[in-house]
Amino acid sequence: MALFPRALRLAPILLALACSGQTADKGPDAGQGGGEHGSDVILVGEYGSMTGAEATFGQSTHNGIMLAIEEINAAGGVGGKKIELKTYDDAGKTQEAGTVVTRLVTEDKVVAVLGEVNSKLSLAGGRIAQQFGVPMVSPSSTNAQVTQVGDMIFRVCFVDEFQGFVGAKFAAENLQAKKAAILYDQGSPYSKGLKDDFTKAFVGFGGEVVTDQAYTTGDQDFGAQLTSIKQAGVDVIYLPGYYTDVGNIAIQMRAQGITVPMVGGDGWDSSKLAEIGGPAIEGSYYSNHYAAEEDRPEVKAFVKAFTDKYGATPDGLAALGYDAARVLADAMKRSPSLGGKDLAKAIAETKDFPGVTGHITIDDHRNAQKPAVVVEMKGGAPHFVASVAPGQ
Ligand code: PHE
Repeated sequence: MALFPRALRLAPILLALACSGQTADKGPDAGQGGGEHGSDVILVGEYGSMTGAEATFGQSTHNGIMLAIEEINAAGGVGGKKIELKTYDDAGKTQEAGTVVTRLVTEDKVVAVLGEVNSKLSLAGGRIAQQFGVPMVSPSSTNAQVTQVGDMIFRVCFVDEFQGFVGAKFAAENLQAKKAAILYDQGSPYSKGLKDDFTKAFVGFGGEVVTDQAYTTGDQDFGAQLTSIKQAGVDVIYLPGYYTDVGNIAIQMRAQGITVPMVGGDGWDSSKLAEIGGPAIEGSYYSNHYAAEEDRPEVKAFVKAFTDKYGATPDGLAALGYDAARVLADAMKRSPSLGGKDLAKAIAETKDFPGVTGHITIDDHRNAQKPAVVVEMKGGAPHFVASVAPGQ
């Protein structure tokens, strides 16, 4: 195949060292084809943003995945083999995501890929995994298009149509909002999709989106958009972006004297949100996949194990990383082989798996339908406010 010259395929270890990839917990067989016969480990790949403006997404997810793999291996692994994880940093960059997934499937020969968080990067990496027939499970990419890439691509989280509905319902019913403004990231399929999903649902609740304004991730000055929003005189502002931009927007919003509540989606979920936004983010709400305070046995056990290991409360990304790795291992145990087709079939057959983020059943579109929570930023941390189940 012209795309991958033979010389490149013959030098996987050298390449891995020469490139920016980070290898986690590399064992003796890493890089030698965990999916091939005769290996005593099963090699699983992970790609994520370990650095960059969304670094906590990748780091938290990785911590959740590692906790799951440690537990699975301590309990005997899969068919007597230990799972080993090969992790690459994509730095939150689309092109890098494609490059590292290519490396995982063609050089490391992983049996499956875990990632990404950012829907844009899952789309890029997913196309590669699909092309090579290697199953990919995204822990947390919520944009509709991600699993539409093909029959090898799965997710263990809900989709944005539901998440937009949850945000709109909360704004309309709990905050009694009638007029909304939206400020979204025009370069992000996630942000654009959620803008549309929120709008549709909010109108359904009898509300009106009076203005939507766009920015590009990394922008520093939101003055023009915020002036328009201020003039529009709204009851709520919906911000379907990621935490670094949202923190900066919140500061400028409050500095402009806009005092109405802000509501966002799972992209807010980071310990850095309060660090960046400070007092400006207090009293805002966002929809998410779980809250550490939830009174469910799966949540309690996970929060304890995670806190014991890492000394920090797990965010939603960590919980979804943990769930994704466990769903994959469960499918591996049921699968007649670790070939892509068999494994994809086993993942597709996942039913009622007791995840930390809710019970996971993979539907015909390779998505999971689960409840969402709404949390409020208070005292620099998210606190549980409400839970909304699909169809509610
Ligand atoms: N759902 C976001 C996306 O699809 C990613 C995300 C998930 C961010 C969970 C934070 C927490 O792009």
